[in-house]
This record gives sequence, structure tokens and C-alpha cells, in this order.
Amino acid sequence: MGFLIAGGIGFIGSHTYISLRKRFPNARLVIVDNLTNSTIQTLNSLMEVTGDSILFHQLDLCDEQAVEHLFNRYHFHGILHFAGYKAVEESVVNPLKYYINNIQGTLNLVKQCLHYKIERFIFSSSATVYGNGKSPFKESDSLLPASSPYGQTKAICERILQDVAYANPWLRVSLLRYFNPIGAHESGLIGESPTSLPSNLMPYITKVAKGELPILKIFGGDYPTLDGTAVRDYIHVMDVAEGHVAALEHVRRGAHVYNLGTGRGTSVLQLVRAFEQVNGIKVPYQIVERRPGDLASVYANVHKAESGLQWKASRTIENMCRDAWNFEKRNILI
Ligand code: WQD
Repeated sequence: MGFLIAGGIGFIGSHTYISLRKRFPNARLVIVDNLTNSTIQTLNSLMEVTGDSILFHQLDLCDEQAVEHLFNRYHFHGILHFAGYKAVEESVVNPLKYYINNIQGTLNLVKQCLHYKIERFIFSSSATVYGNGKSPFKESDSLLPASSPYGQTKAICERILQDVAYANPWLRVSLLRYFNPIGAHESGLIGESPTSLPSNLMPYITKVAKGELPILKIFGGDYPTLDGTAVRDYIHVMDVAEGHVAALEHVRRGAHVYNLGTGRGTSVLQLVRAFEQVNGIKVPYQIVERRPGDLASVYANVHKAESGLQWKASRTIENMCRDAWNFEKRNILI
């Protein structure tokens, strides 16, 4: 049994590698990554956590020849595709970079999937495809225009995979829409370590807690929520990783969408307070104007994943805060 983890050195991909190894101890796992938003340190940490000597190839999925050589070399039973740029703001400023990278990379993988009749394809999608719809989001909700080119690339890749699955009935595709993955593996050896200034909330909180950044700016204090700050469905990255293993085990013919969330909303202020309480550390913050494009409240309806994947997120906000800080603290020591 062999699986390809494309983008496996990134935040979600690296954590999923650990869950895959645990569930399939004898499987051949191959990681490819172009290391644009991750470092080789993560590969070393993955080897330390799993004890594997990991089969890793640095390659860009947009390099069609390199992708062909990879599939000539290995026989895969499934592909898990995490590789893609994911910075929302950057995608607005540089849309072509996102359309070329995220879509061409997916097309090159799908071509090999069809050529070698690889039956299982798990795609890393995002709740952002729901656009400015209404929570709780259900998989059957119509997709409104995503609020960014990044979100559009996810919606387009979903559509490509749905059309290809329709034309090839032997193909089994799961499209996993993540809500807000945060936290880190319990070892503290891998976590969310963006190579550039963080745009997501939790890495910003941990950098402020660490003293690397002076203050957390909370975007918006006047939303129609319980404390005026925006609400999101934060989910532990290991729950998301286990959701991929469940998707692989329950994948069925056709293309099927699943929300990976907890079904619970947490405000920015609630998350900050939980982080401070769990870790006994202050996070100085200032409430400023809203960030353009942000929604007041985004959280999932998770019934389909619970029944279709036999999977349910189990870790708490406190677990997420503790594990995120545990990872960040270890970075101080390095
Ligand atoms: C969460 C909340 C911010 C930073 C995006 C993508 C989504 C997924 C997750 C990839 C919002 C607030 C943030 C800060 C803040 N990515 N915030 N100060 O925007 O919900 O989702 O990342 O798949 O596709 O759209 O996540 O972490 O950026 O923001 O107040 O310094 O935290 O306004 O309310 P978001 P986020």
C-alpha cells in the first residue's frame, strides 16, 4: 500500500503524515513538497516523531516532467493533496501566482491519477469556498463567490475533481473543507510555522506571547457576536489529520464533500482568554478596525463527516491553545 502526500511538509500535511503512519504502519508514504512555505526542519522533526526515514522529494507540482518521473518511480494507491498557497491577503495582491500554482499543480496530479488509475484522491479544500454565506455551513450549501482568489482556486479544484470523478466512475474523491485548523502535535516538534509573517490568528497569538511581536491586533470589536469579535470554528490540527485518515478509509466512488470542523464557534477574544488561562501568559491586544473580507461568524455543520467518515473532532480549545504554545516554546529553545 502506497500513498503520496503532496505538500506533506506543510502544517496540515505534516500532521496528517503522523496519523497516516499510525493507521498504516506498513504503508509506503512518499512526501513531495517545494518548501515554499515550510522548512526542511519539519522533515527532520517528522522523522524524529515517527522514527521513519522518510521518502521525501523536493519538487514543484507545476513541473509536469518532475511529477511524471515521480509516478514512474512509485506505485501509489492513493493521493493526499495539500500542496497549495494559502495566504488569503497575498492571493488578492497576486492572484495569478495562486491560480497558476494551485490549479496547475492539481491538474498535474490528476493527470497521473488517471494515467495510473489511482483510485483514491483526498483534496485539501477550505471553508472559504462558502463565501459570505450563513453559519452553520452545510456541504450542500450553494457556493457563493469565495472572498479571495485563494478561495476561488479551492472551489475550481473541487469542481475539476468532481467533473473528473463523474467521467471516471472508478475514481473515489473526498473534498475536505477545513474550517480553522490550529494547535500542534503533542510532541511540540511540529506545528504551524509559516515562513513569513503570520496572517492567521493563532501563530500571531503565539508570536506575541513569545515577545517576537509587540501586540495582537484584533480585527473588529463591533461584530454582532457575543463579545463583538469575530467567531470561527477552530479545530485541532490533529483532529483534521485524523479526518484525512477517516476520509481515506471511507472514500467511495464519486466525489464527496465533507466539512472538517467542530461545529462550535469561538470568538477571537474567547480564544485569546483561553490561551492566556491555559498557558498562564498574557497576550497584549488592541481592538482595531475590521479586516476587509472577514465574516462575523463562520462555523460548520459537521453531521455529514460524523456519519459519512465515522469521524468527530475530539480535542478542546484548551488542547489547541496548550499544544500551539508548547510548539512555539520549543522554538525559543532552538
Ligand atoms: C481568524 C479570525 C480574523 C489575525 C483563513 C482562510 C481559511 C483558512 C484559515 C486556509 C478572524 C482574526 C486574525 C490577527 C485577528 N486558511 N484575526 N488578528 O480568516 O477565518 O480563515 O485562514 O485554508 O481558508 O480564509 O482565519 O486565522 O486569518 O482569522 O483578529 O492578527 O481572527 O479577523 O476573525 P480566517 P484567520
